[in-house]
Amino acid sequence: MSAIPQHIAIIMDGNGRWAKQKGILRAKGHEEGGQTVQRTLDLCLEHGVKWLTLYAFSTENWGRSKLEVNALMHLLDKYLKERTPEMMEKNVRLHAIGELHMLPDNCREQLQASIDATKENTGLNLVLALSYGSRQEITAAMRNLAEQVQSGTLAPQDITPEMISDNLYTAGMPDPDLLIRTSGEMRISNYLLWQISYAELYVTDVLWPDFGREEFEAALAEYARRERRYGKR
Ligand code: FPP
Repeated sequence: MSAIPQHIAIIMDGNGRWAKQKGILRAKGHEEGGQTVQRTLDLCLEHGVKWLTLYAFSTENWGRSKLEVNALMHLLDKYLKERTPEMMEKNVRLHAIGELHMLPDNCREQLQASIDATKENTGLNLVLALSYGSRQEITAAMRNLAEQVQSGTLAPQDITPEMISDNLYTAGMPDPDLLIRTSGEMRISNYLLWQISYAELYVTDVLWPDFGREEFEAALAEYARRERRYGKR
């Protein structure tokens, strides 16, 4: 096992509480969270982490106020417009997972443009989970496989865990080695349920806008300290 995780997945939580503590709008907390995204990307580059998957918008997040949803979509669009040239400079390849058809047209188009622009990059892979829900992802995978069974091209007894992996949005991506959640909640929140089977979990009380080098390196140190046995002795 390498001391550096190949793939880090993050539940970026606490933007709202951070804003509340400061007596400012929730949207400002998300804006600050966007700065943390860039800082974290740079830390991954510095430490040689190859994959970073960020929970940027969950299927449940559509239930927030229209104002907040619009602010988050605007922020995503702005982030992609402003940061794609930097991704090119830093050899970062962008991917997205989730029900992307749910995104507003301008965001979806900008997202696709950024994915296309960075597709030959070979450094770090940045995966944005957008309108993402793990149960929805697994349901879609099951439907794909069920259709193959129904059409007679697949026998139920031939279904393997690898085939299930290959039918998820994350097909072809390595599973996360380390899952970080900020703001202290001990929950997975419908995030990468299948993919985190063997991931190490690291929960910090630090709110996402305050997440920086110190916490990132503490998470890496904790990861390196743990011995992963995959259930074996
Ligand atoms: C959780 O904080 C965070 C989100 C719902 C959105 C995450 C989005 C960002 C970090 C913004 C930018 C992302 C990109 C990719 C540009 P919360 O609002 O649930 O916080 P709370 O639990 O304290 O209310």
